[in-house]
Amino acid sequence: MSNTTKSKVALAFSGGLDTTVCVPLLKEEYGYDEVVGVTVDVGQPAEEFDEADETAEALGVDTFVVDAKAEFADLCFDAVRANADYQGYPLGTALARPVIAQAILDVAIEEGCDAVAHGCTGKGNDQLRFEAVWRGSDLEVIAPIRELGLTRDWEVEYAAEHDLPVDGGNGGDWSIDTNLWSRSVEGDALEDPNYVPPEDIYEWTATPGDAETELVELTFEEGYPVALNGEEMDPVELTETLNDLAGKHGVGRTDMMEDRMLGLKVRENYEHPAATALLTAHEALEGLVLTAEERQFKQQVDAQWSQKAYEGLVMAPLVDALEGFIATTQERVTGTVTLKFEGGQCRPVGRDSEFATYSESAASFDTETVDGIAQEDATGVAKYHGFQTRLANKAKEATKQTTEALPDGGSEQ
Ligand code: ARG
Repeated sequence: MSNTTKSKVALAFSGGLDTTVCVPLLKEEYGYDEVVGVTVDVGQPAEEFDEADETAEALGVDTFVVDAKAEFADLCFDAVRANADYQGYPLGTALARPVIAQAILDVAIEEGCDAVAHGCTGKGNDQLRFEAVWRGSDLEVIAPIRELGLTRDWEVEYAAEHDLPVDGGNGGDWSIDTNLWSRSVEGDALEDPNYVPPEDIYEWTATPGDAETELVELTFEEGYPVALNGEEMDPVELTETLNDLAGKHGVGRTDMMEDRMLGLKVRENYEHPAATALLTAHEALEGLVLTAEERQFKQQVDAQWSQKAYEGLVMAPLVDALEGFIATTQERVTGTVTLKFEGGQCRPVGRDSEFATYSESAASFDTETVDGIAQEDATGVAKYHGFQTRLANKAKEATKQTTEALPDGGSEQ
C-alpha cells in the first residue's frame, strides 16, 4: 500500500459488500485515481446485474459488463467430457473463475489500467483462482480485503460511515454464487455442518417427489452434449433448458463438507440440475462405448482434470495433456442416452451408440457361438482364474500345520 497517486485499477465488481467497500479503499488506501468495475456474465440471474449497476452508479464508478456465457458453457462441456466433479461438486464456481479473471484482465489492459483488484478474502479458493490468471500479466494485483485483514463487521461499519450503497437486495442470510453450471449457498446458519438446511435455500430445484416422473433423451457428439429430446441446442441453451427440466424434479442437490485449497473445510450447499443430468448421461454413454481399460484409466485422468479445475488451473499444461487423452477416447462417445428424472434422482435408463463396445449376441444366453468363441472355451480360463491365490493360500496353510506340529506348538520361548 502506498500513498503515491497511481491512475487506474480494474476491480472485479459484483455490487456486493466486499467489492463495494473496495472502491473507496482502492482510492484512499492504495492511492488510485480511478476505479473501473468489471462484471462478467457467466449466467448469473438478471437481478445481480441490476444490483451491480445501481451500486456502481451510486458509487460513481464506470462499469463494463462482459458477456462470457458462451465461453463459460464451452468450458463446462469440456468438464462433461472429463466427468468432472470435486468431492461430488460439479465445479461451477471453480470453472467460472478463470473465465471471469481473463475477461477482467482483458478489459484492464484495453482500458490502460495499472492494476487489477478483487474483493476475495484470504480464506477461500477464489483469490487463488483469480490471481493464477492475473499474475501472468504485468499489472499489479490488489486484494484489499485480504491485505488489509478486513472482517465482515468492519466492512459493514465502514460502509455505513461512508454512506456506501450496500444491501440493495443482497441482504439475505446466505452467501450465494450463481452461474450457468451451479448455484452455491453458504454462510450464516449453514456454517454449522449439523444444521439441516430449510427448503428455501433452494431456488433451482423443486422439492424432490413433487413432479411426475419424466424421460429425457440427450444426444452426444464426441462427448459433447448437442441435443435435448432430439432438438439441437448450443451449450448455453441446452444447459439453461436442462436446469429447468431437471430442476423441476429436484435433481442435482449436494450438501457437503468441501476441502478448500488452503486446507480449511467448508460446508457447502449446491444446486446443479443440468450438470448432474449431463454428467450422468455422459458417463452412461462412456459405459456403453469405452473398453474396460479405457474406463479405468480415464477415471484417473478425469480426477486429475477435476483437481486442476478446482484449483482454477484449467490453463495448466497438464490439463492440455489430459485433454489429449480425453479427446482420443471421446471420438467414439457419440450417441444418445435416455435419463429418467424421478423424485430428486436422475438415472440412465437407455443408451445407444454406433460405437458400442457391446455385442448383444455375445452377452446373451441364447447364442451358442459368437466370433468363433463357444461357452466351453471359458473352461480353460476358469481353471486358471485364482491360480496364484490358491497356491499362496495352500502354502500358508502348510506352514501353519508345520508350526502347530512342533513340540512347543511353535511358541517362541
Ligand atoms: N466453495 C466453492 C468453491 O470454491 C464455491 C464457493 C461459492 N461462493 C459462495 N459465496 N457461495 O468452488
